[in-house]
Amino acid sequence: MARRKIAFIGAGNVGATCAHLCFLRNLGDIVLYDIIDGLPQGKALDMAESAPVLGIDAQVVGTTNIADIAGADCCVVTSGSPRKPGMSRDDLLKINAKVMSDVGAAIRAHASGAFVIAVTNPLDAMVTQLKRATGFQKHRIVGQAGVLDSARYRTFLAMELNVSVESVNATVLGGHGDDMVPVRSYTTVGGVPVEKLIAPKRLQEIETRTRNGGGEIVNLMKTSSYYAAGAATFRMVEAYMLDRKEVIPCAAYLEGEYGVRGLFAGVPVVIGAGGVERVVEIELTAAEKSAFDGSVAHVKELVDAMDKVIATGN
Ligand code: 2OP
Repeated sequence: MARRKIAFIGAGNVGATCAHLCFLRNLGDIVLYDIIDGLPQGKALDMAESAPVLGIDAQVVGTTNIADIAGADCCVVTSGSPRKPGMSRDDLLKINAKVMSDVGAAIRAHASGAFVIAVTNPLDAMVTQLKRATGFQKHRIVGQAGVLDSARYRTFLAMELNVSVESVNATVLGGHGDDMVPVRSYTTVGGVPVEKLIAPKRLQEIETRTRNGGGEIVNLMKTSSYYAAGAATFRMVEAYMLDRKEVIPCAAYLEGEYGVRGLFAGVPVVIGAGGVERVVEIELTAAEKSAFDGSVAHVKELVDAMDKVIATGN
C-alpha cells in the first residue's frame, strides 16, 4: 500500500516545523512547496538526509512546482507574508488574500481530495478566502488557531501554578485576534476549575498575555512563532491522518452553531478521517458568550475588509 501524502504549501518556518514533526512521526510522505527556489528543495534534502539516522522511510520532496502536490491527502497552507514587528494580523490582509486565491485554485486543480488546514494570517479571513477558492465543503477545510492559543493559555497557567502543562486543560475560542476568548468556565487544573486556584486579577493578566501571545513572540524574534504554531498545526494533521477524532479548538465554518452563520470562528470540533467531523457546542457564561460574539464581529469586519480589498484592488 502506498504511503499517504502531506503537502506543505509554504516551506517557511511554520510549514517546515510542522513538516518535520509529521516526518518524525512517520505520518506520510512529505512535499514541501515554496516560491523561493532552493528553500523547499534544501529543507527537503536536509530532512531526507536525517532519515537514515532516525530510521524513517517517508519520502521528502522539495519543489517550486505546485503541481507536485498532486494527490495529497492533506494540504497545510502557510504561504503568504508573515507578521513583522508593529504589524497587526489585519495588515497582512491585502497581501495574503491574493495568495489564498492562487493557492486555493491550485489545491482544487491538483489535490481535490485533500483535507486543507489554513495557517496564514489573518487566519479567519484567509481560511474564508481559501474555502471560496477551493470550493471545498466545510468539513474539508479548517483554520489553525485555537490549538495554539489554548497552548499558550495552558503554558502560562502551568508556569503560574508550577504544575505540568499536561495537568492544565484550557480552551480559547473566537477569532485568532487580540480579542480571542480564553474560556475560564472550561479551564481546569487537575480537574479543579481555574477560578478556584488563581485570583481574578491575576487570571485576567494571564488571559491578556494569552491574547497577545503571538505579538509577544513577534516582538522578541522579529518574526512569527513557529515552534508552537508548527506543533499546533501538526496536532491537527495527526488527528486527521490517524483518524484520532480529537476534540480541539479550530476555526470551523459555522452554519448556525454558536449563533453564527456563514463565518469561520474558533470553536471546539472533532477532527478525524472525515475532516471536521462535527462542531461541539458548549454552554458559555453570559460574559464568555458576549466576548465570543465580539470576537466574531471582528472576524466579520475582517472578512468585509478583505472583500473590499478584493473588489476594489485597494
Ligand atoms: C501566532 O499567534 C503566528 O498567528 C500566529 O503566533
